[in-house]
Amino acid sequence: MARTELLENLNRALSLELAAVIQYMQHSYLVTGPEREVFKGFFRNGAKEAQKHAEELGDKIVALGGTPTVEPAEIRQSSDLKEMLRQDLELEREALKTYMAAWASCDENDLPQKFWLEGRIAEEQIHIEELEKLTSERVGVPGRERIILKQMD
Ligand SMILES: [Fe+2]
Repeated sequence: MARTELLENLNRALSLELAAVIQYMQHSYLVTGPEREVFKGFFRNGAKEAQKHAEELGDKIVALGGTPTVEPAEIRQSSDLKEMLRQDLELEREALKTYMAAWASCDENDLPQKFWLEGRIAEEQIHIEELEKLTSERVGVPGRERIILKQMD
């Protein structure tokens, strides 16, 4: 039944968001060195965003007649910043995959749930792209065009 499959996927997403809250918090505690100045806040913001997502998911699961899980997915930690970012990227990719599976398990005409999931999928994708830049998996390409400054008359 589509509703059961949707609830299973939403609960899997909830377990990943709960893990993300804890993992980001742990990374914010563990990051040291000069990078701490920037990345403590970066990780704390990640935890806040994951908590917001978890809150919405739990509310949605109950609205659809399910019971929200209280079990977080696997939490990974490291003392190395690059490894932390890789771990967070993997967790976000897993969450995106689960949101996509939830979207695919919606009834074809269930547009409200589909639209809600599409908003979430778009947000997670932006987050993933930023983490890909931070881990240098995605690199910027400088333009070859020379910048010509307009001459003042
Ligand atoms: Fe999220």
